Amino acid sequence: MTVRALVIGSGAREHAIVHSLRRSGSVREIYAAPGNPGIGLAADLLPIAADDLPALAEAASDLRIDLTVVGPEVPLSLGIWDEFSKRGLRLFGPSRSAAVLEASKVFAKEFCRRHQIPTGEAEIVRTRDEAAAAVRRFGFPVVLKADGLAAGKGVTVVAAKDELDTTLDAYFVERRFGDAGDAVLVEEFLEGEELSYMVIADGSRFVPLATSHDYKRVADGDRGPNTGGMGSHSPAVLPSGTGKEILERVVRPTISGMAAEGRPYCGVLYVGLMLTSHGPQVLEFNCRFGDPETQSILLRLDDDFADILRQAADGSLEQRALSWRREAVACIVLASEGYPGAVRRGMEITGIAGALAEPRVTVYHAGTRLDGDTLVVVGGRVLSVCGRGPTLEEAVKTAYQGVQHIRFEGMHYRTDIGADSLARLGGS
Ligand code: AMP
Ligand code: GLY
Repeated sequence: MTVRALVIGSGAREHAIVHSLRRSGSVREIYAAPGNPGIGLAADLLPIAADDLPALAEAASDLRIDLTVVGPEVPLSLGIWDEFSKRGLRLFGPSRSAAVLEASKVFAKEFCRRHQIPTGEAEIVRTRDEAAAAVRRFGFPVVLKADGLAAGKGVTVVAAKDELDTTLDAYFVERRFGDAGDAVLVEEFLEGEELSYMVIADGSRFVPLATSHDYKRVADGDRGPNTGGMGSHSPAVLPSGTGKEILERVVRPTISGMAAEGRPYCGVLYVGLMLTSHGPQVLEFNCRFGDPETQSILLRLDDDFADILRQAADGSLEQRALSWRREAVACIVLASEGYPGAVRRGMEITGIAGALAEPRVTVYHAGTRLDGDTLVVVGGRVLSVCGRGPTLEEAVKTAYQGVQHIRFEGMHYRTDIGADSLARLGGS
């Protein structure tokens, strides 16, 4: 069958999704809402905000869209699946009741306990005094997590006692996270290596995506504040057996537990994990594709993406491993001055054509806008520059060759994407 697709969102992840759909034999037309100038080269843009659910459903109906793919978590947690399914529209992503796995960290923690899914010990607190008492029991370091969605900023690792008062004030007095901070998890600090793992699920079955490694801290050597992600590569370098253990101990009980609780999980399940000495422990669930992991993963997909998403949305996912190119991809995020804090905007971006002229380089847009004919910066993460190669080393080299062409005032990026993995492979 031929597909008319709609992609919701405006980041580099959504650009990568559009790019992958373009390579699907079955896709005839692609729309994106609201998209960005890069996406606009591969899809027709609809000027509708990603959280305007009725307008999106209306447009999907009018355009006779038969597959909608949602990038960000907010429309999913607002119930975009429910809005579309009311109108008989097919949408790849979880329902509102299933997206609660990301939208409420309290739900996720209690869900893990109900289904014996390994995760850190935690207490659920609602006042400053309760939080202080829980912290005394856990000791330092300790982790505080706002229950609700907080644009990735609701988690604080409190290293020592002298940071505790200001942190507790931020959560309970300033109420920095608003309603999302009504309930807070005080969680034991887990040590180990962090890993994210994604599967595509259809409510009862699932297939894993290729592995990936992402780089959350803003500066080289994993220093500085956490960001949405400064780079990624696929595949990840993992101890053998790790993927299987995660699938059996975490993914399978999560998918079957959600089904058993009447919240069948359809869409991408993204599990953030810590590989501890006691095995993998869940840090968080996300109900969407990771950004920038997706940029690296999808460039390796050697399968019909639209077909897989359509099957998952219909609850009829074929039980077979997906095909992946036997090459590596590295992705470097180019960020604007100030990111991950308040960022500067309006600076001109040059050199994308030069980067694209390099063999095996792909550039995905995120925080960009066209001001007349000039491409300018409008967001924190501006571009994702990806390189493909027969080995991770080559992929990283190619990605950085692409980066060399691109300029905008205040641009910053990590220069060590892949370095830790290459060291582990004994390659550098
Ligand atoms: P989350 O949004 O829950 O993934 O948390 C953001 C980041 O905080 C994670 O990527 C980890 O680096 C860190 N983190 C979260 N929970 C813990 C924990 N229990 N122990 C150690 N680090 C954590
Ligand atoms: N890269 C982390 C995320 O997408 O949540």
